[in-house]
Amino acid sequence: MSYPARVLRSRRSNLAVPGSSPKMLEKAKGLPADQVFMDIEDAVAPLAKPDARKNIVAALNEGGYDGKVRTVRVNDWTTHWTYRDVVEVVENAGQNLDCIMLPKVQTAEQVVALDLLLTQIEKTMGFEVGRIGIEAQIENALGLTNVNAIAAASQRVETIIFGPADFMASINMKSLVVGEQPQGYDVGDAYHYILMQILMAARAYDKLAIDGPYLQIKDVEGYKRVAGRSAALGFDGKWVLHPGQVDAANEVYSPRQEDYDHAELILDAYDYYTSAEGGARGAVMLGDEMIDEASRKMALVISAKGRAAGM
Ligand code: GLV
Ligand code: MG
Repeated sequence: MSYPARVLRSRRSNLAVPGSSPKMLEKAKGLPADQVFMDIEDAVAPLAKPDARKNIVAALNEGGYDGKVRTVRVNDWTTHWTYRDVVEVVENAGQNLDCIMLPKVQTAEQVVALDLLLTQIEKTMGFEVGRIGIEAQIENALGLTNVNAIAAASQRVETIIFGPADFMASINMKSLVVGEQPQGYDVGDAYHYILMQILMAARAYDKLAIDGPYLQIKDVEGYKRVAGRSAALGFDGKWVLHPGQVDAANEVYSPRQEDYDHAELILDAYDYYTSAEGGARGAVMLGDEMIDEASRKMALVISAKGRAAGM
């Protein structure tokens, strides 16, 4: 199906909230996270899943998440819960929901299956068809090898997310500390290849690239260090598991003030010197720095991220 191009809202901080906790669903409303995602998957025990669906429907319909992207993480297609998660949440709260997050995506077909199910529910309920987006979590080797097809599988896809904990388990990585380097690997960043694959797929198909959780929730400096790696590569945001990580994510995935200011100067210089008034030159100087069309593109990226962050 084809839909109009999607407007991707900023997701520097992606707050995970277990659907089993009405208290945490309530608390999330007051936190400055760009996205709240309500979980029915791994943060919720099997017997608690039916109640989690109900809590999430109630929370979405009650509202109060203004300005935040509202997402629900359903269970993956290898379980028997997925269809009921999607039907119950979208039929009952679809108009107050922005995206469904699909974990452990392994193939493009799994994204298509969710797209088709969403379309049927939207038609049945009289909702706008195609409005609800999909967030695809890459959490195992098969998912990573198919990441390009997964990103391209549906226009509903808005984000490609790295799920480091499940991923480390899936490839037998010799470490239990999510985001930290496995002991004995001292020749670089063990996550670089994975992060870059995800980032390339996201950029190739105009999706956001989102980094996953950091489990040492009291270690904000550790969070910033690990987040800083994916932010430096170009990732757009990261999960937060605890209110204490929200500000850190918003800071790390926003441009630094000096970079934002510099980007604005580059754009001003470029506009001036390439205008008739400025002499319509090809090469432009900003102090000692030569500015060309490629530098303008880099400046546009920083400037857009800064503006989205309210700079
Ligand atoms: C998140 O779902 C992860 O597995 O890291
Ligand atoms: Mg996971």
